Amino acid sequence: MLDFLILGSGGHALSVLNLGRLSDSLNPKGYVSPKRSQDTAFESLAYFSNLDDALSTGVKHFANGVGVSVSLDRRLNISTEAELAGLTEVSVFARTADVSSEVGHLRGLQVFQQSVLQINAKLEHHVVIGSGAIVEHDVLVQEGAFIGPGSILLGSASIGRCALVGAGAVVLPGVRVGDGAVIGAGSVVTRDAKPNSRYLGSPAREVIGTGGGCSTNH
Ligand SMILES: CC(C)(COP(=O)(O)OP(=O)(O)OC[C@H]1O[C@@H](n2cnc3c(N)ncnc32)[C@H](O)[C@@H]1OP(=O)(O)O)[C@@H](O)C(=O)NCCC(=O)NCCS
Repeated sequence: MLDFLILGSGGHALSVLNLGRLSDSLNPKGYVSPKRSQDTAFESLAYFSNLDDALSTGVKHFANGVGVSVSLDRRLNISTEAELAGLTEVSVFARTADVSSEVGHLRGLQVFQQSVLQINAKLEHHVVIGSGAIVEHDVLVQEGAFIGPGSILLGSASIGRCALVGAGAVVLPGVRVGDGAVIGAGSVVTRDAKPNSRYLGSPAREVIGTGGGCSTNH
């Protein structure tokens, strides 16, 4: 069993903790957050208010428990900072996920309940696949992207670095969602979405407002 720390204490951290507890190979040991969780699920874990204190325990692995409450660029930075401190990010998989693509080499991949990764779907490090999401064949999901619950990425679509595909959204075949773009929940993306932009509706249209934000210095 591999001991690991969860970075964060909110709803996403709770979901990651749940996957960790159900895993045969992972053992959640503690969590790192500026404030203690009030959720009873965290009670049996060691609590650390900062990463330095957590490092002194000798635990060498972590999972990023931060969700979309911060920009996905910031979320990715949290993983990068922990990796620079000497930790390695684990990937977590729900037992009920159907994973046909090659993902064994990835760090920080999180695949939630009932999701499907079809054969030849290409994923990069630090991607989140929400529960019930479907990633079809030949889709590319780049580093740090967050695919919301129940969304569907159809054949050969590509999702840019740190892009957010909202819950229940559909990205049609071959459509490219740019780095840092935000696709609103329930949207149907029929044309390419520009980087760092925001698209809503069916068919999805660009609206004023910034996307998730994405720098290129990782
Ligand atoms: C797109 C999104 C980021 C906009 O958030 P926001 O900037 O806080 O926007 P607001 O809630 O202020 O809404 C702004 C307007 O857009 C509309 N709107 C918001 N989300 C929408 C959506 N998904 N589809 C269509 N219209 C939407 C609102 O009705 C509002 O319209 P109005 O000005 O006519 O009243 C957010 O609504 C969303 O869909 N996020 C995805 C969440 C998600 O699925 N996360 C997955 C991880 S669990």
